Amino acid sequence: MILELSLLFLTLGLMLFLWNTKPTNFPPGPRPLPIIGNLHQLGTEPHKTFMEMRKKYGDIFSLKFASYDVIVLNNYKDIKDAFAENSLSGRADFKPLRDRSGGMPRGVIFNVERGWTEQRRFALKSLRDFGFGKKSMETVVYDEINELIDTFRKTIGKPMQTQNKFNAAVLNALWTMVTGQRYSHDDPMLQDLIKRLTSSVSQSRAASAVLFFPWLYVIRNQLTMFLKYARERQESIAKTMAFVKGTVTDHQNTFQKDAAPRDFIDMYLGEMEKTTDPASSFYKEEGLKNLTITLLDLFVAGAETTSTTLSWEFLLLALNPDKQEKLHEEIKRVVGLSRLPSLNDRPSMPYTEAVINEVMRFSAMVPLAVFHSALEDMTFKGYTIPKGTLVIPNLYCAMHDPEVWKDPKVFRPERFLSEDGKTLIKNEANMPFSTGKRICLGMTLAQDELFLFTSSLFQRFQVGPDPNGEKLTVDYHCASVLLPKPHNLVLHDRIEE
Ligand code: HEM
Repeated sequence: MILELSLLFLTLGLMLFLWNTKPTNFPPGPRPLPIIGNLHQLGTEPHKTFMEMRKKYGDIFSLKFASYDVIVLNNYKDIKDAFAENSLSGRADFKPLRDRSGGMPRGVIFNVERGWTEQRRFALKSLRDFGFGKKSMETVVYDEINELIDTFRKTIGKPMQTQNKFNAAVLNALWTMVTGQRYSHDDPMLQDLIKRLTSSVSQSRAASAVLFFPWLYVIRNQLTMFLKYARERQESIAKTMAFVKGTVTDHQNTFQKDAAPRDFIDMYLGEMEKTTDPASSFYKEEGLKNLTITLLDLFVAGAETTSTTLSWEFLLLALNPDKQEKLHEEIKRVVGLSRLPSLNDRPSMPYTEAVINEVMRFSAMVPLAVFHSALEDMTFKGYTIPKGTLVIPNLYCAMHDPEVWKDPKVFRPERFLSEDGKTLIKNEANMPFSTGKRICLGMTLAQDELFLFTSSLFQRFQVGPDPNGEKLTVDYHCASVLLPKPHNLVLHDRIEE
């Protein structure tokens, strides 16, 4: 009996020791607890907790999330150097994410190696051919802007919650480019899709426990009968997936391989037709599975991010009326008030560009990007990083680092302008789309859209706080994306009022 007990304690002791042990030559960091590691120390705003930890452990420090070794990068130069390396372009193989794509990594966001390279390269090229920065994209976005202007004009002088007003326009533009169909902003199907995408983003956490404890995820799924939120989540994912699959089937039924592609899905089906290599991610059934997940990835990553940036922009410009006036003055001077701004006006509008840059820096909306993972053993800045280590870029820190930015908590577009205000000055530390091999796939589209929405809406509307409402603040809800807390704004029409 004594022997058995000793063996049991010895085994438990060894397990705890191994659990607590960090790889050799690993960056410094706080001591992890058995089983949970440092997960209990993250707090409600992990990006800010990491900035505090940086003061004690330096720019590069290590943590443990359950059994995963983690490295956090805080300095923009380190993030840039690290993510230029192919070895750090992996993603963690979490069970919930694998299940989302049918049991193995597919699509773009959570895919790795050959499948990721193929899907990412194809999506980038096809979306570019379909009009990133080209006329066709502009035409698609104008339709959305015009409908949004009509909606806004009906609310003139009345308090309005702007947060969810941009989703329909932004999602619709993406949906049109990808599927060839356009909906009216109040179409029940579009509204339903928005509701589901919005709630999946607002409920997501960068370091959610179900990612690190697969058993917790399995139990949660078994309990969907009793847990309303888990059931709703599962149903919502299934509904979105069924909807996307239905759109793909419609395209398959009407696809003509010799005709010009109507949209992104047609281009993808054409690529599948050409593929004869059974190991390719475009081959037959595997190609179709990848198409569904790639579409889902584009909507999840593209819709909420761009529309939340516009919500931040409206809020920040309502709080800074002097900056808003300068923006309007530039639009009036370069474009006038009788036509909508176009992408050709962009080079002549440095203040507009500076406002967009500053909104993205200030809001740091995707504060920890999407976690990367080391694909092989490597060394970085003298530290050893074993294969499988999670690497978190603290983009919030890069964009709020007091060592890089003068008064980072102040909203000041002028920080991106030359002294005479005529030239836009880029700053490498402003990295809202991350950097390197995994840099946001939709960056060009997002930048073009943000320019068109910003210049068209502030050409026409003046936005301010609700005089009878609560005091406006820059408080946010911290999910994997930082969402401004609900607030009301009041719009005035500069042209017709
Ligand atoms: C203001 C708007 C946007 C912001 C701030 C943003 C930001 C980001 C960030 C921080 C990442 C993570 C990069 C990393 O892992 O290091 C990302 C990835 C991604 N984004 Fe965006 N994004 C925006 C708009 C879009 C749009 C419009 C699309 C699609 C059309 C899109 C598609 C993607 C995809 C597919 C990925 C995964 C890339 C990969 O893993 O290779 N994003 N984005």
